[in-house]
Amino acid sequence: MANVQIGDCCSLNPLELYEQVTAQGEKVRALKTEKAPKDEIDDAVKLLLSLKLSYKTSTGQEYKAGSPPTDFTPVSNGPGSTEDDDFVDPWTVQTSNAKGVDYDKLIVRFGSSKIDKDLINRIERVTGHKPHHFLRRGIFFSHRDMNQILDAYENKKPFYLYTGRGPSSEAMHVGHLIPFIFTKWLQEVFNVPLVIQLTDDEKYLWKDLTVEKAYQYAIENVKDIIACGFDVNKTFIFSDLHYLGQSPEFYKNIVKIQKHVTFNQVKGIFGFTDSDCIGKISFPAIQAAPSFSTSFPHIFNSKKDIQCLIPCAIDQDPYFRMTRDVAPRIGYPKPALLHSIFFPALQGAQTKMSASDPNSSIFLTDTPKQIKTKINKHAFSGGKDTVEEHRKYGGNCDVDVSYMYLTFFLEDDDKLEQIKQAYTSGALLTGELKKTLIETLQPMIATHQQRRKQITEEMVKEFMTPRKLAFDF
Ligand code: TYM
Repeated sequence: MANVQIGDCCSLNPLELYEQVTAQGEKVRALKTEKAPKDEIDDAVKLLLSLKLSYKTSTGQEYKAGSPPTDFTPVSNGPGSTEDDDFVDPWTVQTSNAKGVDYDKLIVRFGSSKIDKDLINRIERVTGHKPHHFLRRGIFFSHRDMNQILDAYENKKPFYLYTGRGPSSEAMHVGHLIPFIFTKWLQEVFNVPLVIQLTDDEKYLWKDLTVEKAYQYAIENVKDIIACGFDVNKTFIFSDLHYLGQSPEFYKNIVKIQKHVTFNQVKGIFGFTDSDCIGKISFPAIQAAPSFSTSFPHIFNSKKDIQCLIPCAIDQDPYFRMTRDVAPRIGYPKPALLHSIFFPALQGAQTKMSASDPNSSIFLTDTPKQIKTKINKHAFSGGKDTVEEHRKYGGNCDVDVSYMYLTFFLEDDDKLEQIKQAYTSGALLTGELKKTLIETLQPMIATHQQRRKQITEEMVKEFMTPRKLAFDF
């Protein structure tokens, strides 16, 4: 153990503090066994007590030998991020690396598990379906407890899916489609109930919006979500601003969660400061609550042991690390998770596509012409400066945004591989690669717009009405 002094521990994260307490406890025991001088033992005990106090202040829990605080390891922005400058939290994704965030490092830092070949093979074996290309291509790359979900499925034990959207604007961008496309596949393959949360309250608290506007955006976004093709008999969609007032059971879970998380903990996890409004500080409990089946008595008949699986991009993980820590303390199973990488901004993989910067994103409302112009003008290219150089040295798919987008949306594995080979060898030029992307996205978005046009107010109402779904519990 490094030589820790009283006061040094303030800069440590919960896991490091936990290790320091363990090591100091062993030191005290060794000193007592050796019958060391009383002063030396007293000093060591004093340091042990101080470390335990810091641990409690940092995590809100008593130190317990053998139970490290896995779910409270701070997000990348703590001391663990000094060796690189990737920054990932629910509001910001930033890296200086043109290839994007180092996801292998993120897995280690967040304490999740990699979705490896074995897990993908098991999903195929258990479901009898070819794994979605998001799994095959590493777009969903990390998980928590997915094996538990597969065990449950094999043993015919029920589980449900939960995902969500923060309606910050009327139009969603194509990056937002990733978790919904994948959730739809999961719902079809596993045939389970799905709940979708629209955190219009979150967007009211974080953005310069009225509550009425946030709710209106929620309804507009619901239309885009329904247009992804969810089954109304198996899906419940809700807006927080609306559902919270309709469901005492949902609110009871929120206060249970609030009682088990301290201000210190949310400061550590989300970086809140003393000047953040109290709405933000208590909001994580509202995103956590749908992870527990009792929040939806109309669907789950008040059963409390139905596990939940949450597909999302990894930026949402801080919410669910908090949820997983709280769950056993309030008598619920921990939610399992499937994490995706980020769909990059047009300008490059240093940041994710963001709805607040129109030029960084392709929106679901864009016309074919807008799509073409945005890609041709803004999509960062891994090609060389001149045609001659490009033919000679080839392009770099690792940093080329058009190629990255095709890995998300071009389903044909062989065609994607041919493009990669041709671009890398220099046979395919940047303009030609961009043309393929434009021709992939234009019909995809036009089809989405067609489907969205068919969504009526009645359909929205049906999806958003608390009701029993096509499952008996
Ligand atoms: P929001 O609206 O920021 O994002 C909605 C979903 O899209 C994912 N996402 C992305 N995925 C890939 N590439 C991107 N560039 C990209 N940008 C966003 C997000 O991870 C999310 O899955 N607070 C949440 C709403 C929410 C939620 C949930 C999300 C409530 N409950 C449960 C997931 C699971 C939010 O503002 O998401």
